[in-house]
Amino acid sequence: MAIAFSINGKSTSVDVPADTPLLWVIRDTLGLTGTKFGCGMAQCGACTVHLEGEAVRSCSVPVSVAAGKKVTTIEGLSADGSHPLQKAWVEAEAPQCGYCQSGQIMQAAALLAKTPKPSDADIDTAMAGNICRCGTYNRIRAAIHLAAEKGA
Ligand code: FES
Ligand code: FES
Repeated sequence: MAIAFSINGKSTSVDVPADTPLLWVIRDTLGLTGTKFGCGMAQCGACTVHLEGEAVRSCSVPVSVAAGKKVTTIEGLSADGSHPLQKAWVEAEAPQCGYCQSGQIMQAAALLAKTPKPSDADIDTAMAGNICRCGTYNRIRAAIHLAAEKGA
């Protein structure tokens, strides 16, 4: 059965079983590999995308839930890496290996959309489910503050 939704502002339709994880569709069907697979159990945040502007763990959302809705991945945050969060990430040198970082940025973007000037506590609460094996948490926090100052 075809399932239609919007991905990064473009309409798409995929013919996959309704219970296919959204992450599989994003990466394997649509070829958008910026979103990463970590745990597959909603425990690490590597697969975070936006569904109607809310941060969700795409490994644990069946694609049928996205039907008729708007999905945004890291590729859709900006066409050329010019989103304030992406620039702040570079300036703060947030990534180490980089694997978790697209999920971190998408989680941070959802935070700033609701809380444009977050405190350290706001950041720590919002980002608590995004695990970084490299321990870049302090630099991520600094990058979020930087983006907030620049009006993400
Ligand atoms: S891969 Fe989805 S939360 Fe870990
Ligand atoms: S930068 Fe390596 S897991 Fe986060």
